[in-house]
Amino acid sequence: MAETSLRLGLNIDHVATLRNARGGTNPDPVRAAKLAEEAGVDGITAHLREDRRHMVDADIENLMQSLTVPLNFEMAATDEMQRIALRHKPHAVCIVPEKREERTTEGGLEVAREQNKLSDFIAPLREAGSRISLFVAADMKQVEAAHRVGADIIELHVGAYCDAHAEGDFKLRDAEFESLRDMSTYAHSLGLEVHAGHGLTYDCVKPIAAFPEVRELNIGHFLIGEAVFRGLPPAVQEMRRLMDEARH
Ligand code: PXP
Repeated sequence: MAETSLRLGLNIDHVATLRNARGGTNPDPVRAAKLAEEAGVDGITAHLREDRRHMVDADIENLMQSLTVPLNFEMAATDEMQRIALRHKPHAVCIVPEKREERTTEGGLEVAREQNKLSDFIAPLREAGSRISLFVAADMKQVEAAHRVGADIIELHVGAYCDAHAEGDFKLRDAEFESLRDMSTYAHSLGLEVHAGHGLTYDCVKPIAAFPEVRELNIGHFLIGEAVFRGLPPAVQEMRRLMDEARH
């Protein structure tokens, strides 16, 4: 039986993007994280990129010290990031592909081809107590490989589904939706915990939130943008409301 509770993880990278546009300390991502905690989010996600374009090392340090909800530390599979994760021992490590020139994480992780390398990479992180999540496309080959390398979680990349919805390409959207639904069921049957994220908005969240196997949605860009208009707590609470509505 699939679990029924659905967690909301807020990705606060773009609070740091805004801060870094000017330098200095405002707006402070930790303040955003604490406010989101009070508003009821179940976790905070932060992606420390190689180029430190949003989160910087001190942010991760400060989040580790201040958060009461779990930190989902997003990172590429590099030696540098592994050292940082081993120092902080976050609740979860979400491994994502990272290309220097991309604006955001474009695709899922190539797990099948990099199986041996990833197994070795995640072993010490698991030993240190972090749960391991792999950000993958809705592709059976990748889901099976994620299971084989010993991941605890897969996070399904729902970006193509969200984009197709926003662009009104309903044929593509529905095809993406079916793959996501099938892979969510399949991953759950393998014993993997299923998360989903990337590109989710009020408009497209409900069908994904309704997947009974999905335990967590990680949402950033849209909610940080929405916070400009209605404030962060109401922005988060509206997403929570839609997720709960979809679930019941
Ligand atoms: N999950 C993962 C693995 C991501 O890389 C991102 C983007 O950083 C998100 C979720 C959140 O995506 P968005 O900012 O589009 O909501």
